[in-house]
Amino acid sequence: MLILKDKINNFKNNRFSVAPMLDWTDRHCRYFYRLMSKQTVLYTEMVTTGAIIFGKGDYLSYNEEEHPVVLQLGGSDPEAMAKCAKIAQDRGYDEININVGCPSDRVQNGKFGACLMAEPELVSQCVESMKAKVDIPVTVKSRIGIDDQDSYEFLHRFIDTVKDAGCEHFIVHARKAWLSGLSPKQNREIPPLDYERVYQIKKDFNDLEISINGGITTFEQTHEHLKHLDGVMIGREVYQNPYMLAQADQQIYGDEDAVIKSREQIISEMARYIDKHVAQGGKPWHVARHMLGLCNGLAGAKQFRRYLSENASQPEANGDLLKKAFDKVVQLQK
Ligand SMILES: Cc1cc2nc3c(=O)[nH]c(=O)nc-3n(C[C@H](O)[C@H](O)[C@H](O)COP(=O)(O)O)c2cc1C
Repeated sequence: MLILKDKINNFKNNRFSVAPMLDWTDRHCRYFYRLMSKQTVLYTEMVTTGAIIFGKGDYLSYNEEEHPVVLQLGGSDPEAMAKCAKIAQDRGYDEININVGCPSDRVQNGKFGACLMAEPELVSQCVESMKAKVDIPVTVKSRIGIDDQDSYEFLHRFIDTVKDAGCEHFIVHARKAWLSGLSPKQNREIPPLDYERVYQIKKDFNDLEISINGGITTFEQTHEHLKHLDGVMIGREVYQNPYMLAQADQQIYGDEDAVIKSREQIISEMARYIDKHVAQGGKPWHVARHMLGLCNGLAGAKQFRRYLSENASQPEANGDLLKKAFDKVVQLQK
């Protein structure tokens, strides 16, 4: 219990996080990110209650090193959500986040994701039943609106209702969701972002912790948002340019003693991780694919990516592959 309590205390600072991204932020990706930043909060990909309760695989496995790590749950049946929350707490997750932001058809058919913004009472029941079962925080990631339900009042009512069930932290993706006519990918660019709306929510609900997400790509922008809000979540930019995380503990958390690891150091730690993964029967590509962007911005970045793509699926591949790929970059720096 003491360990759990310590985790919660350490976890108070949600200033910066990497977004949940299906197929991207799996446990290998999160291990890689954690090597670069000790403090950034990491989210899992969305895991549905159905997968946890009825699935054959273990959808909750993670590396101990990943803490603080948040499980993002997809679902809307309060009983199933509570059951999964309890399982997640027992497995050591630091927090549970409910997906009220994903617009894909598959998600709507299962009645979870962004369509739940129209049912704040149901989300509220989920939060309530989850909180009755766990001590770790239960949070919500939402949009600013859905389809033509895009007024400020709609968002306000959603937050107001769900907060009453005990949700104290909302992460708001500052773009409304289109539930038909746009693919999830298109819906990450259109319609326009509205950051002011999220700022207004913080003004109206000052006691709540409000984080913002959507289209943020730099730490300068992050600092600007942090003047108005409690936290910033970045998704795609971190995935494309992961080495930015090496600066996060110093630049965002103000930890002047934080060690900024070199890319070379990260390569050698990840090579060990790949070797361990291979020894357990895993495939190097499943890890290396998340590292393609590590050298972006340097001469040789293209060669690095190409080497990994061409070689990580070879039968004899192991951790050395990363060092060989990085040699391409080193040669061009000389
Ligand atoms: C490949 C991909 C998968 C995503 N999967 C999820 C998901 O599982 N759960 C979720 O809440 N959002 C998901 N999102 C949305 C992101 O969490 C985030 O809200 C969105 O990308 C906007 O942030 P960004 O502009 O910083 O990328 C996904 C985004 C991408 C690019």
